[in-house]
Amino acid sequence: MHQLTMSLVHRSGLRRRAPRRIHALLFALLLPSCIQRSEGAAAPTSAGSDPAATAEGSGRGASTAPPATLPEGASIAKKYQEFFTVGVAVTQKNLATPTVRDIITQHFNRLTAENAWKWGELAPSKDRYDWGEADFIANFAREHKMPMTGHALVWHRQAPGWVFARLQNGDPQAIEAVKTRLKAHIDTVIPRYADVVDNWDVVNEAISDNGEKTYRDATEGSKFYGIFGSEEYVYLAFLWAQQAYEAHKPGSSEGKLYYNDYNVVLKIDRIIPMLNAVREKGARVDGIGMQFHVRLDWPGVEMLDETMQKIIAAGYKIKISELDVNLYNDYPDGKFKAAPAVDFTPELAQTQATRYAELFALFRKHAEHITSVTLWGVSDDHTWLDHEPVGGRNNHPLLFDDQHRPKAAAAAILDF
Ligand code: GLA
Repeated sequence: MHQLTMSLVHRSGLRRRAPRRIHALLFALLLPSCIQRSEGAAAPTSAGSDPAATAEGSGRGASTAPPATLPEGASIAKKYQEFFTVGVAVTQKNLATPTVRDIITQHFNRLTAENAWKWGELAPSKDRYDWGEADFIANFAREHKMPMTGHALVWHRQAPGWVFARLQNGDPQAIEAVKTRLKAHIDTVIPRYADVVDNWDVVNEAISDNGEKTYRDATEGSKFYGIFGSEEYVYLAFLWAQQAYEAHKPGSSEGKLYYNDYNVVLKIDRIIPMLNAVREKGARVDGIGMQFHVRLDWPGVEMLDETMQKIIAAGYKIKISELDVNLYNDYPDGKFKAAPAVDFTPELAQTQATRYAELFALFRKHAEHITSVTLWGVSDDHTWLDHEPVGGRNNHPLLFDDQHRPKAAAAAILDF
């Protein structure tokens, strides 16, 4: 499925991943009904704005909410500086668009590359790295003295096809081949960005969506699990990331190595034992990234709070790594059912602002244990949620609107 997705990526202009409906259907079939997904399961997109999709009255969810007025000179990052850094996921195009760039430099003090640092983007073919967009973003961060979150060393999606080509699951030679390739990748990327990165998503999304299983296996798209026949690759990735830092500069792995996932509220009792086992085998794990692709109504603050307390009690740091607030519930009874588009009205903008405010209040409460909070995009004209799990429907999940103006949500998180 992943290769199907990647093969449909148009590299010129905006990236589009076409078969979203197929993904949605496949994932709906794979998901047990007990699991609520607050996010689409399909491959991410970095598509930019589609003027037709954002036009007023398009019937795809236009915005009728006026912009909010922020206090003179307000900066979200400055307002939160005593708590944690506030970051945003970006593309090269974001950084080259003056109105978007201005928001980034005014309101954020950390960056994540939305797609450019993923293995499949960096190394689309064997032994050839394409550093263009990845370095552009790193250089912007260096120039503006912003730390970066490295995203991501190991992920079953957006990994290059050549890593697994012609390899058989469980074949000892295949395991050795993937080990060699993965270690080489980690050894290449970590030193290159060691000066600008203060933490890496070493492994992304290794836990199953099925609450009755622990690990995401080959049936849920993990070629890593498929080849290894176990979760050993998780331990090795942490070990090699640690070793790459230590080889670069002794002591420098400290605090930098995270596991990252979505729906952590549903997975935490499997994530902590997995990471404890990695630690027991001797590799470093510093913290857990909670992606926070949340909905207006789920998960509730209490559930999120309990999950954070479990993480803290187990001795891990927390980062909020991919925050956005989805307007739609496409899993009304646990099963996928696309919700119809709605306009982003002033009332809805207010409901979303209230949700953002309660989330940031929770983050402040646990600030001592939270290393960063990162929004998964700058403004509503560029968000994966316009495309997944339902295409052609505007979602408005971020802090700035289609026209790069502050939303009620931005005002709400500044007001405390
Ligand atoms: C996952 C990944 C991100 C991004 C999002 C949305 O959460 O970790 O890199 O791709 O999906 O697309």
